[in-house]
Amino acid sequence: MIIPIIILISALLVLVVMYVLDDALRVMNERAGLAPGKGMVWSKRIVWALLLAVVAQFFIPADLFEPPPPQQALYNADSLWTGADTTRLTYLDKDQRELIRYGQELIRNTAHYLGPKGTVMQGTNGMNCQNCHLDAGTKPWGNNYGAVWSTYPKLRARSGKLETVAKRVNDCFERSLNGTALDTTSREMQAILAYMQWLGTGINKGEKAKGSGIVELAFMDRAADPEQGARIYSGKCASCHGAEGQGVLKADGNTYQYPPLWGPHSYNQGAGLFRMSRFAGYVKANMPLGATWNTPMLSDEEAWDLAAYVNSQQRPSKDLTGDWPDISKKPIDHPFGPYADAFTEQQHKFGPFGPIAAYYKKP
Ligand code: HEC
Ligand code: HEC
Repeated sequence: MIIPIIILISALLVLVVMYVLDDALRVMNERAGLAPGKGMVWSKRIVWALLLAVVAQFFIPADLFEPPPPQQALYNADSLWTGADTTRLTYLDKDQRELIRYGQELIRNTAHYLGPKGTVMQGTNGMNCQNCHLDAGTKPWGNNYGAVWSTYPKLRARSGKLETVAKRVNDCFERSLNGTALDTTSREMQAILAYMQWLGTGINKGEKAKGSGIVELAFMDRAADPEQGARIYSGKCASCHGAEGQGVLKADGNTYQYPPLWGPHSYNQGAGLFRMSRFAGYVKANMPLGATWNTPMLSDEEAWDLAAYVNSQQRPSKDLTGDWPDISKKPIDHPFGPYADAFTEQQHKFGPFGPIAAYYKKP
């Protein structure tokens, strides 16, 4: 900065001197009765050009000739992942950028495009992915997508198969959104995949970003208690999700202000949240709305009891016969037998889970 300014000032001084000298020469020539000379025309032009060049460089953006900055992941003060930097999307090529933005939009406003009155197709229960994957899948411990692109394809015990990201996304379409899978070649699936890939920016293959997914709560010594959960529910949840867990639609009658927790429009019995540990961990770090992992509003016990209450209510069923082909790999809180152990379905649903976990830890 300082050098161009020095050049600028010097050039200006030189110009002033040249004009003064020129004038002086002209006056002397006139007095001497000589024809006026041409003066220092070319010298002045050169100094003017130099001056303009110096001024111009103040207006050329500094990064014009530099490569665009790479996409980058963001982390909060606790080193928890908070998504990829949206301000850098502008450096991507237009088609790619639009695909990623559409993917993010589908996660946020799924129902608008794919819900019961969806503008693209009608194939889900009216919930949004974001209802459970908060802040478009970027909230620390908000069931975020910080471990998706880096850990798939992976062998999953639920299907017993190697699953791609598209397959995993469709799992949530068929279970959490109690709907139909997307055609993997559709623009919608391509957009969701582009968004997931971009969210994976900077996360090494095989690694999970810190704060990704759902927190694991310690098991209680007792079984979770649905009756206790009912009391907590009416005090801390019903104001938004409704006394009947049915949620509240927005004025458009199409998308939810507060999503349902049970009933015909909720996630089905094959969904992740139907497992106690997933539900308890999710609500502990995120509910009532405004809670975060480090400013929770529920105790662990309240979260477990709420899970027992909500997951005891009516909700759509799902044919789960293909799930968990190897029953010894079933999560201990999967509420449907058969099991590779002697604990009851009741205990697998509500706990106490400690003894079951201990049984599987034994060599
Ligand atoms: C009713 C809640 C709910 C909704 C709605 C929902 N999901 Fe999920 N999703 C879950 C749960 C629970 C998990 C499993 C988390 C775990 O096992 O820790 C999950 C897991 C995933 C995963 C795998 C994450 C990982 O790290 O392995 C992907 C990808 C995913 N969901 C995508 C979607 C998409 C896309 C949508 C919208 C079409 C959606 N989900 C809607 C609850 C939901
Ligand atoms: C102030 C309103 C409010 C309160 C109170 C509240 N929630 Fe929520 N809840 C929401 C909203 C809004 C969402 C969806 C968030 C989004 O889309 O960003 C949600 C999402 C959820 C979800 C995932 C989506 C679904 O419908 O399955 C669960 C589970 C949940 N809440 C449970 C609870 C529980 C349990 C309580 C009581 C401890 C509770 N909430 C209290 C507003 C609330």
